[in-house]
Amino acid sequence: HPHDTSGVWRFRELLPFVTSPAQIVTLGEGNTPVWDAPRSAGYAGLKRLAVKHQGLNPTGSFKDNGMTTGMAQARRLGARAVACASTGNTSASLAAYAARAGVHGIVFIPGGRIAYGKLAQSLDYGAVTLQIEGNFDDAMRLVRELARTTPLYLLNSVNPFRLEGQKTIAFELLQQRRWRVPDWVVVPGGNLGNVSALGKGFKELHNLGLIARLPRLAVVQAEGAAPLAQWYAAGQTGNLAPVARPKTLATAIQIGNPVSWLKAVRALEWTNGVCAVVSEQEIADAKAMLGRDGIGCEPASAATVAGLRRLVSERVVDPDADVVAILTGNALKDPDFTVQYHTGQLYTDAERETHLTHAEGKLVPT
Ligand code: F0G
Repeated sequence: HPHDTSGVWRFRELLPFVTSPAQIVTLGEGNTPVWDAPRSAGYAGLKRLAVKHQGLNPTGSFKDNGMTTGMAQARRLGARAVACASTGNTSASLAAYAARAGVHGIVFIPGGRIAYGKLAQSLDYGAVTLQIEGNFDDAMRLVRELARTTPLYLLNSVNPFRLEGQKTIAFELLQQRRWRVPDWVVVPGGNLGNVSALGKGFKELHNLGLIARLPRLAVVQAEGAAPLAQWYAAGQTGNLAPVARPKTLATAIQIGNPVSWLKAVRALEWTNGVCAVVSEQEIADAKAMLGRDGIGCEPASAATVAGLRRLVSERVVDPDADVVAILTGNALKDPDFTVQYHTGQLYTDAERETHLTHAEGKLVPT
């Protein structure tokens, strides 16, 4: 029964859906493990660190939690075609769930800028895969416009039914911890849907009286794609100034104009949260550290541990704090990054070097 095997739908009483099981498209998403990461903890300056690995989802990222609910809504509306812009994981997830649902999947991806594993997924799952000339923000603009003027149903996280599924990551995490609220929950920030969804999830548990306090949320951006961090640094006034040419090798979060920034700001307000920035080198080194805990992830996910290292050194996060990092994507999504890092070639690509300054090379194992 889909309600019971899915780590999302078993929380259906907390989802705004009245839908028959027949309408639910599930691949058994959620149900992801929480592990301790002692070496990474030490690296970040923490006594202990737990990671919840959303990369162990059916298509290898946290997007599946929200795609199952987004697709259920698409079915309720009778949509025959669904679409998204993506840096690769949303498109992989949409393609898989569209295939299961028997609807057309159409994905818009920035040409040449997504990890190969992700591109391969959307092709295999049979989505119409359109590489556009432009970056993610261009693709996002294009697909929003198309969704306004055609019957395409938009399944980016600007769609609130996506966030409803993603908020269950907070529920599952707390259930796994026997409702012990962590001091901090840390996520990478791109389009800022995930931090928004987690904020909503924790807030709902608090409103229901299931938890006595909220964890603080920390969202971590790559320095070449950090519009939210810049908005905070500039004094939180006016609208977010988009980063025109976002640049990071963590291609999942190479986003300059995040659609959910206002929701993210609200989530950080609710939780007394913070926004941190990390360099390319810090992301790559943190990823290798997680590897030495036996934990693989894609680059964007490792921004969490890199961000924690900064936040501990800046005395924002206490070394004794009870911290959970959400690892968002699977290691096998972007093996090129990993191999290039360990062979000292990550920063040698000329085109990239013109945009990235941190080229000191790879982490020296201790
Ligand atoms: N980590 C990974 C692995 C991602 O794929 C994404 C976003 C994020 C973090 C950031 O999450 O956007 O909710 O702030 N990927 C989207 C995509 C943009 O198209 O796959 P966010």
